[in-house]
Amino acid sequence: MILLETVDLSKQFGDVHACDHVNFTVNQGEFLSLVGSNGAGKTSLVNLISGHLKPDSGRIMFEGRDVTSAKVYERIRAGIARSFQIVNLFDALSVFDNVALSIFSRERKVAKIAAIADNDRDVRREALDVLSQFGLAGMSGVLAGGLAQGERKLLDVAVAYALRPKLLFLDEPTSGVSTRDKTQIMDTVSSVVRAGAVTAVVIEHDMDVVFRYSDRIVMMHEGKFLADGTPEEIKANRDVASILLGAPLSAGEGQARAARD
Ligand SMILES: Nc1ncnc2c1ncn2[C@@H]1O[C@H](COP(=O)(O)OP(=O)(O)OP(=O)(O)O)[C@@H](O)[C@H]1O
Ligand SMILES: [Mg+2]
Repeated sequence: MILLETVDLSKQFGDVHACDHVNFTVNQGEFLSLVGSNGAGKTSLVNLISGHLKPDSGRIMFEGRDVTSAKVYERIRAGIARSFQIVNLFDALSVFDNVALSIFSRERKVAKIAAIADNDRDVRREALDVLSQFGLAGMSGVLAGGLAQGERKLLDVAVAYALRPKLLFLDEPTSGVSTRDKTQIMDTVSSVVRAGAVTAVVIEHDMDVVFRYSDRIVMMHEGKFLADGTPEEIKANRDVASILLGAPLSAGEGQARAARD
């Protein structure tokens, strides 16, 4: 079943086509990776879908409803959440409060923020539950600003996950961390997401990580979709190999493909 669909979604910045008539579908329950070199348009596509950017043209359908003009909070309420390429945490708040704040905002209980930690038992229980799923329960009292980079990335994902989305976009959840931390982050994220039956779209540069965790991989290049397939299909795709190695696309093939998309 299709959960999200973009129809000819386009966004230009001056002469740059960040998204060029993108037709993107995300199926219910899949763990999908969005890959492509720097500037390919990955973050722009997520920004358009989450409502942080306004498209020049095209449509965004979520569960069959047109959400192209919906506000960010309306999309969150509909079930679309995202994390950011640069972590978006309240450094002066504790790990616990960062997650509790996300739950409060979802429940629209923001007036009660002052009483956050102690008074709302349901929120407290849920925040601790989310933190323990992400392996962060032991740090709930630590200020977010004092966490190591890998923990910060995980907390950022936990904050987005606490919105209880149907569709979760993670923009480079492993950037800036060691290879060992990457594996730990992705093991945690993929198991939480799969256990919660949340559909996930992950932007990731490390192809070892991408091949290991994804059900499906989509590659963007210069604002267009260049390839879409299973890890095996993507591994065998010559255009993808060219992009990853920084080589020109095979004559005609890539361009014809891109034009068709
Ligand atoms: N707000 C903006 N104003 C102007 N140009 C922008 C803006 N946002 C993105 N761009 C441009 O759009 C193109 C796509 O950028 P985007 O950030 O979507 O790429 P990306 O695939 O996420 O790259 P990276 O892997 O480096 O994060 C780039 O050429 C970028 O410079
Ligand atoms: Mg990006």
